[in-house]
Amino acid sequence: MGSGIAQVAALARFEVLLHDASPDALLGAMAGVKRDLGERTGKGRLSATEATEALSRINPTREFQDLGTADLIIEAVVEDLAVKKEVFRKLDAIVAPEAILATNTSSLSVSAIASFTKTPESVVGMHFFNPAPLMKLVEIIRGSQTSDATVRRASEFAQRVKKTPVVCKDTPGFIVNRIARPFYGEALRLLGVCRGDRQDREVGRLSHGPVRVDGPDRDRCELRSDQVGLRAVLARAAVPSPPHPEKDGASRNTGEEDKKGVLHVQVKWD
Ligand SMILES: NC(=O)c1ccc[n+]([C@@H]2O[C@H](COP(=O)([O-])OP(=O)(O)OC[C@H]3O[C@@H](n4cnc5c(N)ncnc54)[C@H](O)[C@@H]3O)[C@@H](O)[C@H]2O)c1
Repeated sequence: MGSGIAQVAALARFEVLLHDASPDALLGAMAGVKRDLGERTGKGRLSATEATEALSRINPTREFQDLGTADLIIEAVVEDLAVKKEVFRKLDAIVAPEAILATNTSSLSVSAIASFTKTPESVVGMHFFNPAPLMKLVEIIRGSQTSDATVRRASEFAQRVKKTPVVCKDTPGFIVNRIARPFYGEALRLLGVCRGDRQDREVGRLSHGPVRVDGPDRDRCELRSDQVGLRAVLARAAVPSPPHPEKDGASRNTGEEDKKGVLHVQVKWD
């Protein structure tokens, strides 16, 4: 997500510092941005000059300290409160008092994250959707102590990067995931009960799944996580428990997620 957000900001002519704790991830992120900009240029959506200029505005850095010069920091590290706590504590020590600290969390409490800093009024949720360069919506999440000025500045930034900000409360799932996660959870449960894919596609006309059934015997299911973060869905779906394909009729859940982020589940239909 971080690289997509960096790309969006660079295309809107912001100078961007991109940091990741993993040097490989940083290299991969830059390569991903370059590839995506190239594809857009190939499709005629961007001029070669715009792509080159946007790429040159993203400065990868391996030094966390470099982030101290930024006016706005959008954190997009793993969805783990302990890791975010460490990051916000470190940011708190280096940023200017007027800097905005935004978190791209999908499900954690913005107020809890803000509590790791001495300036909770400057901490706000900025929840971009994946893929960030394509998706228009950004949820602006007001924590219990977020100031009006911080909400306004975060919303203005979202507009300047050509997104549609929607201000919402710091409640579990915010707006979109609150609606979507029960849907994903039920789609996963449906796997063991009936051929949910046909229902999704042919009755519900949900062309993207999230469940796709493949193979001549329609016995191989792919639960797509490349767009929605399947692990997060499984971990935090607003359902009482994760699905139990075995118990519900599936023969085996390999639980193997491939490089495209697709979880392969073997299902035996009655
Ligand atoms: N993937 C999505 O669909 C999606 C959508 C909206 C929001 N989000 C949110 O964005 C955030 C990132 O999600 P993701 O899917 O990009 O995760 P990811 O695991 O793909 O990337 C997280 C990156 O954080 C880096 N990292 C870990 N600890 C770090 C640290 N201490 N300092 C610096 N970098 C560190 C990792 O090296 C990794 O490259 C999460 O909060 C997630 O909930 C994800």
